[in-house]
Amino acid sequence: MQQKKNRLVSALQKLAAAGAVVLAAVSLQPTQASAAPNPVVGGTRAAQGEFPWMVRLSMGCGGSLISPQVVLTAAHCVGATGNNTSITATAGVVDLNSASAVKVRSTKVYRAPGYNGAGKDWALIKLASPVTGLANLKIADTTAYNNGTFTIAGWGAATEGGAQQRYLLKATVPFVSDASCQAAYGSDLIPGDEICAGYPQGGTDTCQGDSGGPMFRKDNAGAWIQVGIVSWGQGCARPNYPGVYSEVSTFAADIKAAAATL
Ligand code: ARG
Repeated sequence: MQQKKNRLVSALQKLAAAGAVVLAAVSLQPTQASAAPNPVVGGTRAAQGEFPWMVRLSMGCGGSLISPQVVLTAAHCVGATGNNTSITATAGVVDLNSASAVKVRSTKVYRAPGYNGAGKDWALIKLASPVTGLANLKIADTTAYNNGTFTIAGWGAATEGGAQQRYLLKATVPFVSDASCQAAYGSDLIPGDEICAGYPQGGTDTCQGDSGGPMFRKDNAGAWIQVGIVSWGQGCARPNYPGVYSEVSTFAADIKAAAATL
């Protein structure tokens, strides 16, 4: 539970405590030579252009471009609905330090109505200008894709308690049923709002700083489709504690309606 309530706060505190210099030094380290699992916990580096709609947000979260000017992220990554020019979205690169990074400020935030820290963990960010030339990510508006193997990606910690990453990392994780996710989390899990993924043995997961980023898979036509939003978990990649994601299909109609008003 602590993990759940403190998720974003702890990520930000770590950033502040580590200091920019230390953080930069850590994130500049080359990937380890070891074949052991790394980032997104258990992941590998994404290729430039592989997930063109992946966005890094300046508060230390991920997001997805669902249209040229709208980013879908987690409610726990943002403040209240309203005008907001405090967020910078970095798009178009796997390397956050790349000179070709596209950086755009926010103009507005729309946080899920009724969000109170339990479920409903989605939000939209309107960008000051459209990001062109990058494919957008479709969102699942039926439950048809709430199964199978999902891809996760982000610049968050590569190990529980570890540093944020300079390069985008990716991994795949299998769907976990509500029943088995409830075995881990009991009533903390809100089955209608949340979808879980991970291996029983752990080892691969999203982690602090991946929040707000998409969990996605291919649809029947072979196109990427977003089924989840990184939300929370007990630690990262622990055995029998799957990652918990906002269930995009539950909120798709609300997300589309809200995006149209931004
Ligand atoms: N809440 C975290 C964040 O703010 C993401 C945690 C995901 N945890 C997990 N075990 N899948 O970045």
